[in-house]
Amino acid sequence: MSRIVYVNGEYVPEEEARVSVFDRGFLFADGVYEVTSVLGGKLIDFEGHRRRLQRSLDELDMPAPEAMADLLEIHRELVARNEIVDGLVYLQVTRGAPADRDFTFPGEDTKPTLVLFTQSKPGLAESPVAKVGIKVISVEDMRWGRRDIKTVQLLYPSMGKMMAKKAGADDAWMVEDGVVTEGTSNNAYIVKGGKIITRHLGNEILHGITRAAVLRFAREAQMEVEERSFSIEEAQAAEEAFITSASTFVMPVVEVDGVALGDGTPGPIAARLREIYLDESRKAAI
Ligand code: PDD
Repeated sequence: MSRIVYVNGEYVPEEEARVSVFDRGFLFADGVYEVTSVLGGKLIDFEGHRRRLQRSLDELDMPAPEAMADLLEIHRELVARNEIVDGLVYLQVTRGAPADRDFTFPGEDTKPTLVLFTQSKPGLAESPVAKVGIKVISVEDMRWGRRDIKTVQLLYPSMGKMMAKKAGADDAWMVEDGVVTEGTSNNAYIVKGGKIITRHLGNEILHGITRAAVLRFAREAQMEVEERSFSIEEAQAAEEAFITSASTFVMPVVEVDGVALGDGTPGPIAARLREIYLDESRKAAI
């Protein structure tokens, strides 16, 4: 069965999906996106992702697609048509395809492009990696200054991931002014004296939807949370560390730049948070 994707109002087999070569997403990375996970055929944190999408559009003065009000229905339709049990729904909006390549934003006659597709990932929540944790290296954060907007400018994060692979690690934490901003596609945390420490919100990091939920659950479970930046040296001396994102949920980090954290196995706080996040998210999934 060929995958069914959504392009500008139509559900089509992926081989038939078409976007113009003049699309500004293609030419200027003038687009924003969201990734929503699916567990048991239901959407996790959908409302948070929808709200952040609207914010990304607003921050870039990008018109919302006409189908903005139907996003839940479109997500559900794609999950159903592609028989997704566990996996992801990827959504991208661009400023559309004007008649020619032009740096200035197009006028109102150019409609935004809206594309959605699914990725099936059976057993997404039971990832064996969560049992052993991941290794990260540090790289300089060379991205632009509005990382709070979820744009499709993902070249540097891709390069960071490749640098990690080359170094025999799983991911990279980006460092700016001596402190960690975030992972290539996730938010970063350490645990010190039982306290969960993660960078405060600002333009320097993406305001993770998983981050918001995990911090809420942590506080509800009487865990202490401190939102502040931390250095790689502080991370290497921490009891444990982890990352969060829609595709990894809560994933333990066991090594930072070659230094094992604690005994080099996933810590109890990361494991507990993963369990709470998955339990609560499954309950609230729609
Ligand atoms: N990435 N920081 C960055 C730079 C990200 O790209 C992501 C998400 C996050 C976590 O955000 P959330 O919890 O809302 O997924 C933080 C997605 C999963 C991706 O690009 O595939």
